[in-house]
Amino acid sequence: MSNFLHFIVTLVVILSCSLLNPSLTAQAATMVTEPCRSVYEQRLIHSPDGIGKYYMGREIAQVMGYTGAGWLERPSREGEEQPSQVVSLLNLKPNDVVADIGAGTGYLSFRIAPLLTTGKVLAVDVQPEMLEIIELFKKEKNITNVEPVLATFTDPNLPSESIDLALMVDAYHELEYPQEVMQGIVKALKPGGRVVLVEYRGENPFIMIKGLHKMTQKQVRKEMQAVGLVWRETKNLLPQQHLMVFEKSDSSNLLTK
Ligand SMILES: C[S@@+](CC[C@H](N)C(=O)[O-])C[C@H]1O[C@@H](n2cnc3c(N)ncnc32)[C@H](O)[C@@H]1O
Repeated sequence: MSNFLHFIVTLVVILSCSLLNPSLTAQAATMVTEPCRSVYEQRLIHSPDGIGKYYMGREIAQVMGYTGAGWLERPSREGEEQPSQVVSLLNLKPNDVVADIGAGTGYLSFRIAPLLTTGKVLAVDVQPEMLEIIELFKKEKNITNVEPVLATFTDPNLPSESIDLALMVDAYHELEYPQEVMQGIVKALKPGGRVVLVEYRGENPFIMIKGLHKMTQKQVRKEMQAVGLVWRETKNLLPQQHLMVFEKSDSSNLLTK
C-alpha cells in the first residue's frame, strides 16, 4: 500500500512539473527519490536562465552546452576577460598539478600547460563533447601535459590529495551539485592546496552578462566556507571578473569526511 502511495505521489509531482516546465521533469523525479537533500531547494517559478534549483539563496544557472564552444574560443575574449592576466595571477610553479574544473574547450588549460614544465593540467568537464574538443586541440597544439577527465555532475573524479590548484573560470555558478563537487575538490587538493574562482562581478549591474552568470564576493565566500575552504585573497585586477583565492585547511578535511 505504501509503495502504491509513493507511486501516486511521484506521478503527481512529475506530471505537474512537466505541465509547468518540461525541463523540470528529471529534477522533480530527483526531488521525490532524494527527499533529504536539504541543502538545495527546488522552486517552480524561477529565472529562464536557471534550473530552478537554489543553493544558499542563489539560483543555479543552466549549463552552457557544447554547442557554445565557439563562444568560449571567441577572439575578443582576451580583451574582454584578459585570460593571460588570469594565468599570471595564479603564481604557478613548474611542477604544479592544476585541475581546470569545467574546462570547456580547454581555453585556460592550454594557456596554463606550457608553464607547467614538469607538471600538468587535468581538464575536467561533464560533457564528453568538450573533452573531444580538448583532445583535438592537444594534437593541433602538440601539447602533451593536458589530460581530459570526464566528471559526473556530483564528482570531479580526481584522486585524493593529487592537485595543487583547482581553477574554475566562469564555471562554478552552473554546477548542479555545487556542494558535492566542492567536497570532491577539497578531497583532491593536497594539504595547503588552493581553489581559485573567477566569476563575473555580481555587485556590478553594468556588467552585461545574465544575472545568474555573475556572483557576488559575499556569496562565493559563503559557499566556499560551507565546504571548509579558507578565503585568502580577492584580486580585482580583471576588467569584469573577480579572482578569488581559497585554501584547504585542516577543517576543510573534517567537513568533507
Ligand atoms: C561556461 S563554460 C566555461 C569553460 C571554461 N572554464 C572557460 O572559461 O572557457 C562552463 C563549463 O563547465 C562545465 N560543467 C558544468 N557542470 C560541471 C561539473 N559538475 N563538473 C565539471 N564541469 C562542469 C560545462 O560542461 C562547461 O563546459
